[in-house]
Amino acid sequence: MTDSATQFVSPLTFQALSGHPVHHELLNAEVENAMGHISLARWADILLIAPATANCIAKCSHGLADDLLSTLYLAANCPVYIVPAMNQAMWNKAVTQENIQKLQRHGVVMIGPEAGSQACGETGFGRMTEPEAIVDAIIGYSNPLLAGLKILITAGPTREALDPVRYITNRSSGKMGYALAQAAALAGAEVTLISGPVQLAVPDKVLCIQIESAAQMYEAVMANISNQAVFIGAAAVADYSPMQVQAGKIKKQGAQIAINLQKTPDILASVANLPHPPFTVGFAAETHDLEAYAKHKLAAKNLDMIAANWVGQAEGGFDSHENALQVFWQDQQKSLPMMAKTDLAQQLLALIAQRFHEKNTI
Ligand code: PMT
Repeated sequence: MTDSATQFVSPLTFQALSGHPVHHELLNAEVENAMGHISLARWADILLIAPATANCIAKCSHGLADDLLSTLYLAANCPVYIVPAMNQAMWNKAVTQENIQKLQRHGVVMIGPEAGSQACGETGFGRMTEPEAIVDAIIGYSNPLLAGLKILITAGPTREALDPVRYITNRSSGKMGYALAQAAALAGAEVTLISGPVQLAVPDKVLCIQIESAAQMYEAVMANISNQAVFIGAAAVADYSPMQVQAGKIKKQGAQIAINLQKTPDILASVANLPHPPFTVGFAAETHDLEAYAKHKLAAKNLDMIAANWVGQAEGGFDSHENALQVFWQDQQKSLPMMAKTDLAQQLLALIAQRFHEKNTI
């Protein structure tokens, strides 16, 4: 417990209710040896910080160690899970998001936060994930069905060059695909990530191949697809690219100019229609008729599964922390409600792993 936590519940109450010893002092030679924080850090199989305040996250991300909790974080070499809980404005503050991203770059896994009404009376993202869901998430991260599977994932946008300085792209941040890569790697899968240009750190133990255009993504996927058990197409690949890339910067001309575009190779369909395809999962990003379009893509591209999401709405989809998915396979479907993309990735992977093993035991 931190000092602030003891203002809400006394360590004695916490100990009596939980039936477990409660540690809260960094240095207390009378209670335990002065190096107790190091033994605690070595004893743990995982370190879970729940709830983690904006202050606690800031301290961890900067390596400050001025109390037992932040010192444990610094001393731990086991997997670390952080469950943020704070006011929605504090969560949305750029500096908090920078701290979160920094910790994620260092391999820390975020669980939540969730949206809803908050203790302060405001509404938004920042609610702590429910304890049962935290436990499910941690169990999910060690999903034995994923251990050892070779998984190829695409993420982020593509850039289709018009001239040396301009390109056509979209709003994908890569968060969905990177969350899938991180969750799969944590569960012990062998992950290759083929990524368009994004501002995200490559998750630990993930092999990342960086590309720019749809054509480059196609080449990279095809060069790495053999022996993959699962392929997940989470990238927002351009459907069309300029027929000609001008050698020099296009000069300002009349009131209008026309650009001729040609279809890019369909990476997802090409993988699904290989002679020996991996278990192939597509995404569908739709602004209307989500279910009909997703089901059409599932059948037309010969996919094993498709995860459909609404885009262009106030919540979820492109460049958002959270998302919701409607997943379709054969004649079945499952709704995964709005939640953090990190949690969503884990739930989608659990579904993929289950279906993959069912298909391969038939
Ligand atoms: O990156 P984020 O900001 O986190 O946002 C996540 C997301 C919204 C980008 C993601 O959840 C998502 O929906 N990804 C797919 C976006 C997309 O291109 O959807 P689509 O319906 O246009 O394409 C269908 C499928 O075909 C996708 O799996 C896509 O990767 C694939 N495709 C498309 C074109 C092409 N030439 N080759 C492909 O493989």
